[in-house]
Amino acid sequence: MRRGSIASLLGIGVVAGGVAAAVALAIPWMPISASKEAGRIDFVFWFVVTICIVIFAVVAAAILYSVVRFRAAPDDDSDGPPIHGHTGLEIAWTLIPTVLVTAIGIVSAIVLSRDDAIAKNALHIQVIAQQFTWTFKYPDAHGLTSATLVLPNGREAVLDFQSRDVIHAFFVPEFRENMDVVPGLTTTINVTPTRVGTYPVICNELCGLGHATMRSTAQVMTPTAFDKWLKGQSKAVASPNPATAGAAVFKNNGCAACHTLAAASATGKVGPDLDKLPAEAQQAKQPLAAFVRTSITDPNAYVAPGYPKNVMPATFGKAIPTHQLDALVSYLINSSK
Ligand code: CUA
Repeated sequence: MRRGSIASLLGIGVVAGGVAAAVALAIPWMPISASKEAGRIDFVFWFVVTICIVIFAVVAAAILYSVVRFRAAPDDDSDGPPIHGHTGLEIAWTLIPTVLVTAIGIVSAIVLSRDDAIAKNALHIQVIAQQFTWTFKYPDAHGLTSATLVLPNGREAVLDFQSRDVIHAFFVPEFRENMDVVPGLTTTINVTPTRVGTYPVICNELCGLGHATMRSTAQVMTPTAFDKWLKGQSKAVASPNPATAGAAVFKNNGCAACHTLAAASATGKVGPDLDKLPAEAQQAKQPLAAFVRTSITDPNAYVAPGYPKNVMPATFGKAIPTHQLDALVSYLINSSK
């Protein structure tokens, strides 16, 4: 190849590489990164993108140069010269991709094994997915439940996922981690938050009519604020005052996502309006207290007219401890009077 050809090839390559690099770097493609795992996953992403940009620039340069340099004249109907091939080129385009793909494999394996390593002081959290809510349980804090994922900043959290019905997927873009939540399986991811803030928890698998509404939030707090939150929550749920305890149980189990209850500032529209419980009990011809309790523990026993069966999870009877259930029932009765 002549010197001029090499210079024009290089020129095209630099322009193509520059355009691709500008598109990659000038646009903020990613949400902020809020965990250690996100930083590592971003590293793999940019490692691969950089390799792609270089390959793109080389290929674009070769194509553009060839289109101009070897273009046949409009009246040229002759066959091209028979070419046997180029052993040197073939070795190069086999070896270089092999090295690059191996490098990507090694970098990914290191990142995966680091993200999967469980720290000694890790905080274990059970995440329960069901149509269409998330519940977060803290086994280290006497099984405290919360409708939002609250995490202490800087400490690794191990999230164990379980589904009560169909396949869901847990996704927090700022943590860069997505995990399927499959009935009958326990799946796990680790999150080590690095940034105090509130981030969306999204269900990332079409799981039914309410899929789009199956959202919660991940709240990353300072370790001190987290300890305070844990203590406050445990105290509220165990409060001898049924109004305080009931309100906490209502909030922690995500009832507000589906029901309206003025006392809790809840405005959900998926299930019946809980401000009208006495009228509902009358319609079901049941005493109010028994009606409220059964509606929580065995929701399909009586379904309010106009609402479909099997939408209210049938698992709260088992999931909510008896004293919390008592508090919730009395809270609902008093709030709806
Ligand atoms: Cu759960 Cu989509």
